[in-house]
Amino acid sequence: MNESVRFDRAVDFYDQTRGFPPGEEQPIAALICRVGGFNEASRVLEIGVGTGRIALPVARHVGAYFGVDLSASMMQRLKAKRRGEAVYPGQADAAWLPFPARSFDGVVAVHVFHLIPAWRQVLDEVRRVLRSGAPLVHCWTRDDDAFRKLGEAWRAVVSPERQADVGVHWKRNPEFLLDEGWQAAGAEHSHAYSVERAPLDMLDGLRNRIWSATWRLTDEEVERGMDAMRAVIAADYPNPDAPRRLQTTFVTRAYLPPAEEPPGRPF
Ligand SMILES: C[S@@+](CC[C@H](N)C(=O)[O-])C[C@H]1O[C@@H](n2cnc3c(N)ncnc32)[C@H](O)[C@@H]1O
Repeated sequence: MNESVRFDRAVDFYDQTRGFPPGEEQPIAALICRVGGFNEASRVLEIGVGTGRIALPVARHVGAYFGVDLSASMMQRLKAKRRGEAVYPGQADAAWLPFPARSFDGVVAVHVFHLIPAWRQVLDEVRRVLRSGAPLVHCWTRDDDAFRKLGEAWRAVVSPERQADVGVHWKRNPEFLLDEGWQAAGAEHSHAYSVERAPLDMLDGLRNRIWSATWRLTDEEVERGMDAMRAVIAADYPNPDAPRRLQTTFVTRAYLPPAEEPPGRPF
């Protein structure tokens, strides 16, 4: 699989299934700006900007917020939600950024590296467009493991390579940039919030294929995975439609690009 996963098919359910609970987007936006050192003069780019879940609240703190995405329809949603924020989305591949070198005071990336096979090329492009000393602010989430057994049941019957991310595996979020020679500019920072979910919501999510990892599976594969989860639900959850409070942690960290190679000495 060497194509990025674009989100056109998620347009109608993305905000409903991924949106932050009321009141959480502002502290998350403020955290991203603090971690990135952004202020009202900053020019920021987000790769994989989607429907503006991050862009719209962060834009209130910065001078100009640019976004690229492969999906024009996701960005149509963003434009429809814009209320005067200085957010400028454009259709482009993050591996071929249509911007001059050293044109941004920061780049933001949230839930995108797992979708792009050419993620190393994306890093080269991010490095190219960052001004000297400007960071890449990478954000991801850590979920409560209250439904861990449901996930394990799913993974036991759906072959790992069929559900693998096409880009960076989500488990590598905390370290892959360090492994690529990027330098952490400060520690990880996080903001926790809670959501309510019932075990049966997990089955509905799979049936409706709301997660991109299900998009290339056959109906039979999804059905097999759901059957395995139904068995766990029957054994472990007497009230499978009763919502439980789960904690999600939004994690963010700033990184500086690897140092330029010094020019080789003539010999
Ligand atoms: C999971 S969504 C995240 C959207 C937004 N960052 C957020 O946190 O809500 C990932 C987005 O990245 C886009 N995407 C995937 N591959 C891309 C690429 N190579 N270049 C630009 N955007 C890409 C998808 O179309 C999708 O809109």
